[in-house]
Amino acid sequence: MPPDPDLIDELLDVCHRLYRSGMVASNDGNVSAVTEDGNLITSVTNVSKGAMTARHVVKVNRDGIPLEDGKKPSSELLMHLAIYRDRPDVRAVVHAHPPYATGFAAAGLALDRCVLPEIVMTLGSIPLAEYGTPSTEEVPEAVSKWIGQSDAVLLSNHGAVTVGSSLMDAYYKMERIEHYARICYIARQLGGERVLTPTEVSKLYRLREEAGMTNRNTGCWACDQLVEGSCVGEACVNFSGMGESFEAVARKLVKEVVSSQIKER
Ligand code: 13P
Repeated sequence: MPPDPDLIDELLDVCHRLYRSGMVASNDGNVSAVTEDGNLITSVTNVSKGAMTARHVVKVNRDGIPLEDGKKPSSELLMHLAIYRDRPDVRAVVHAHPPYATGFAAAGLALDRCVLPEIVMTLGSIPLAEYGTPSTEEVPEAVSKWIGQSDAVLLSNHGAVTVGSSLMDAYYKMERIEHYARICYIARQLGGERVLTPTEVSKLYRLREEAGMTNRNTGCWACDQLVEGSCVGEACVNFSGMGESFEAVARKLVKEVVSSQIKER
């Protein structure tokens, strides 16, 4: 089945937006999406996302084998393939090098504090995957540790990757983390972010639940106090119905377990 022209147009639109917004330079970045017949389309390697046309899009199967002659898929295809394997719900993947988010990634800093309500409500904490040599298995291996619990991951000394239910959904997540990283950067110049209190965060979780919103990645992993309702992987914090002294012990235990999980990553 030939690739869907609307899907190709959307992929080109996302590539042009990435380039225009300065989230990539030169031939940086790559984008892919699931086609109707279950294969993928992806940007070819080594082309500016600002100059992308339909001839710079290649259809590949789930093993990364090109289904069109004479076109070489993105060198980061291994990462895209691994994400689709790990997350069957994902329909599109965007990889870019947005300067503020990549600045955090290069400084070894995750965006994992609860600072802005819209980030708490949508993406949650944005983890930092360890460094992997671009185009090798090291990148998907590093991303796999996080992509199950987050739709956006920073890549150490490299960039960021976002996933979504559509190309635009994945693109907007990239735009969101870049904007967020920029705000955090400015706040740090001004003395540092004020982290939302557990009560403030709990209220946001309630709002999110009422609105039927979900994100995979809840909680402020870097905060001192854990927030009711926050989860790391399968483990969620729920202190309801506990007496005061039990609650204090439970909070301490949960904090220790979560801290050790974070250190392991
Ligand atoms: P490709 O041109 O091969 O997609 O690589 C660009 C890139 O950003 C690598 O990380």
